[in-house]
Amino acid sequence: MRRYICPKRKLDGLDAGEKYDVVIVGSGIAGMYASLHLDDSLKVALITKVDIETSNSWYAQGGIAAVIAKQDNSKMHIEDTLKAGAGLCKQEAVEVLVAEGPENIRELQNMDVPFDVDADGELQITREGGHRLRRIVHCGGDATGKETTKRLGEIVMQRRNIDVLFHTFLVDIVSDAKSVQGVIVCDAESGKYTLLHSQNVIIATGGLGQLYNYTTNPVGAVGDGIACAYRAGARLRNMEMIQFHPTTLVTNENTDRLFLISEAVRGEGAVLRNKKGEAFMQGKHPMADLAPRDIVTREILKELRRTGDDCALLDCTAMTGEFFSKRFPTIFSQCEKFGIHLTEDYIPVHPAQHYFMGGIETDLDGMTNIEGLYACGEAACTGIHGANRLASNSMLECLVFGRRCARHINASRVKARSSDLEKKLAQEIGSVETVALSKEQISAYKREIKNIMSDDFGAMRNAEDMQSAKHEIERIISECENMECDTQDAMELYNMMEVAHRVAIAALARKTSVGAHYIESKVMSENV
Ligand code: SIN
Repeated sequence: MRRYICPKRKLDGLDAGEKYDVVIVGSGIAGMYASLHLDDSLKVALITKVDIETSNSWYAQGGIAAVIAKQDNSKMHIEDTLKAGAGLCKQEAVEVLVAEGPENIRELQNMDVPFDVDADGELQITREGGHRLRRIVHCGGDATGKETTKRLGEIVMQRRNIDVLFHTFLVDIVSDAKSVQGVIVCDAESGKYTLLHSQNVIIATGGLGQLYNYTTNPVGAVGDGIACAYRAGARLRNMEMIQFHPTTLVTNENTDRLFLISEAVRGEGAVLRNKKGEAFMQGKHPMADLAPRDIVTREILKELRRTGDDCALLDCTAMTGEFFSKRFPTIFSQCEKFGIHLTEDYIPVHPAQHYFMGGIETDLDGMTNIEGLYACGEAACTGIHGANRLASNSMLECLVFGRRCARHINASRVKARSSDLEKKLAQEIGSVETVALSKEQISAYKREIKNIMSDDFGAMRNAEDMQSAKHEIERIISECENMECDTQDAMELYNMMEVAHRVAIAALARKTSVGAHYIESKVMSENV
């Protein structure tokens, strides 16, 4: 694959954009929170592929896990995280995550993020899968991501040292063997390519859910930042660890992004049933419906395989309509829209891709193996999630490690330097002969990748199918490697090939089942 995908001919018209001290790619909670912790003497560009309302963070329902309740303590949160992670978590990263959780929640409160509170003004705390007690704070009932992202966005827009570049697509990270020097970006509306000089780049581009047919991730979550970092020489880690959420709403609507039924619904007492009404999680795990989500996902899939049902049912009838509509207003109105009345009807649910535990390997300051290149949030692999993320640890990770990236940059004080980057780039990009693919060809290849990933790198895998899937991905790469990357669509396809290939290689390299990477024999999987 190529080191740079920026077309050679675009270099002539490459606009030498501004010099920034820090470029942040991604406007979810990780990127925005990092930007707000950078010294305001630093000139910052915050790049967003679409806008602040289009990120995984925005859609996050459940909440943020942190040791808040009197009966809770750090030891228990660490243990629950390690247990969900199935032995692959990095203990020191988990310790940092948990230790710095409560102070980051307080910071959000000071920023006027509207957390839900009880009649005494105390934070309301709920429970989700894998947590042995209530530990999750939330906003707007089930709109934690939206409320938090909205508020952070308002503050970011007021900061004079932060330029927000909307509808701007990351093309390439510019670096030499050791350190980062900037990024090439493309404006989606004008198609103009710009080189932004910066000695510090934070990748906070989120996950890769749109490599799958069924995902809760928004369109655009195709792992762009991860692919760009990999091309620049960043190490990736745990690429096979893809998380499937047990409960997304089943409807007959054709949609790019599935609607999530938060685990907090089970935290408040909802129960999974098969179509005969049997509560099938009983006896499968000591925590039953609130087992870690990789386990619940697999048990649902096994139950569907056993019964031949096309979906599982979530029984919320133990809650009153009044309680449900107040506690989960977004879910309530979405269900009503589809004629599901929660006091009488069960919610039809099915597992779908939700989160990526792997990503760009970082240390505890969010730094990669390339000087000045940082990653945080879902794009990063700090090691805290191991083989399976504990519910609501993801927004916490965005806060803790977003702030850590910023503090490390503040302390290292590497400011923008002038350089003859354009000249160097012209030499490095060389003259790859590229071939233009039509819009239809690009869509067909994207569809093919999504089908391969969904069929063979899902919640239950087998070695034979993964092997032939890897060959299929390599065939696509050989057909498209020299494609012209002059549209967002084309660049996305290139990034999808790169990321899918890394997932396939990592999945085949891990020979035994652990956490979300669950391998069974082909005979078993053919009965799906
Ligand atoms: C949920 O609300 O179930 C999702 C929260 C998370 O992904 O941790």
